[in-house]
Amino acid sequence: MAVALRNLLSYLCRYVVLGFLVSSVVYSTIFLFGSENLQKNAAGLIQKGASSLSNGYGSGNQSPFDIENVRYSAQQMTVQAVRRGKEPNAHTIYEDFYLSKAFGNAMQPSKVIPYYLKAEGVFDKEEVTITTLITENRFEVFKKLVRNYRGPISVTLWIRDDDFRDQHFAALHALYASEPLLRQYVDVHVVVDRFDFQLNMWRNVARLFARTDYFMLLDVDFHICTDLKQHLRENEMARKFLREGAALVLPAFEFTDERDGEDSATFPKDKRVVEKLVQGKKLVPFHSVKFAPGHEASNYTKWYATDDVYQVMSFNWKYEPYVVLRREGTPWCDERFVGYGANKAACLYEIYISGIDYYVLPQDFLIHQSHAYPESKRSGGRKLNGELYSAFRDELCLRYAKYMYLANELYTHKAENLMSQCKQLKGFEDALKEFPRMWKSEPPPLI
Ligand SMILES: *[C@@H]1O[C@H](CO)[C@@H](O)[C@H](O)[C@H]1NC(C)=O
Repeated sequence: MAVALRNLLSYLCRYVVLGFLVSSVVYSTIFLFGSENLQKNAAGLIQKGASSLSNGYGSGNQSPFDIENVRYSAQQMTVQAVRRGKEPNAHTIYEDFYLSKAFGNAMQPSKVIPYYLKAEGVFDKEEVTITTLITENRFEVFKKLVRNYRGPISVTLWIRDDDFRDQHFAALHALYASEPLLRQYVDVHVVVDRFDFQLNMWRNVARLFARTDYFMLLDVDFHICTDLKQHLRENEMARKFLREGAALVLPAFEFTDERDGEDSATFPKDKRVVEKLVQGKKLVPFHSVKFAPGHEASNYTKWYATDDVYQVMSFNWKYEPYVVLRREGTPWCDERFVGYGANKAACLYEIYISGIDYYVLPQDFLIHQSHAYPESKRSGGRKLNGELYSAFRDELCLRYAKYMYLANELYTHKAENLMSQCKQLKGFEDALKEFPRMWKSEPPPLI
């Protein structure tokens, strides 16, 4: 009897649990698919965040971004198919869905809003768009950049999806209204999510939506001391390299005394003055004390001595100069690098490995501006990214070697960068020897 009862109880128990599971699945299905507020895509996160947030605004009140967000999430884009019959043959996709693939290696969900604010300016394709990244604490220094450059700027603004989100949006609108030059030159793309410092993804966003053929990867607190636009127009050689897809480096400096770095109006505009300041130890190549490999491959000694564009001869995987590049045909920054450390270097390394050479501009230079905002805790991610970068270099070397082997480019000029960097890696040359056995078919003949 007792046994039978126990059996019955456990039987019932199972049904209760099962019933609970079934009803909760049904309930969440209804909730997910039935809720008008909840978007199907990346915006779902924001909608959910918003509903808890809206309590703070008083019952039922939606914050301004909640309302905008519904509109953004309804945005669709059209993909044209080849038209074969009479019927128009287009396919539409939700923009959010498409963007989740465009930034598919980033942490998801992440809401990307291209051209949240779009400049009125129309730009010549030959111009260089500055691409940079900001959070709200960089607004003031960003404004300086805009006033100084007076050319196209594509900026990614990251807004954390938390209780302060709407204040950040309000601050952005205030910023845009405070300076007419922003309306003229600056496209603001907004990324809203809960992941700090997806720096490479943000870089890719700014580049993808840049509106000219060339872009500069720039950190927002650097001051462009020279008339870069003018110099690029005049320098035939530099233009030629750029058109061919090469990277053009602007040497970067910093003041030894932080106070000298506060007011960009006092910065030198001519490299002769830079040379004197460096001799007087007032100015030094950027990070030459903290992290010399970051910039020394630019060869500052040579830079003082020459008036011509010259090639970077001692590229290494720690090199992270500020560069101008062609928007199309350049590898994208690997979005798996999140947080500080190695992200820009990894991006520039892949660009180099892919066969793109680096050249230093002889007249132009940047100076780092000292800033009051705190350096956030940066050390945490560095170690992790250091290890990721080490694995990444192995991966890149093998991947590009394989591509180049199959394209029969492994013994051409295009592979020289790859060969010079990758042969330092253990096992790389042995792997190369295995290639002919791994792919039985002969690579196509050289044309
Ligand atoms: C810098 O350039 C000078 C002069 O061309 C050259 O002798 C030197 O080896 C170069 N140094 C590096 C680190 O590339």
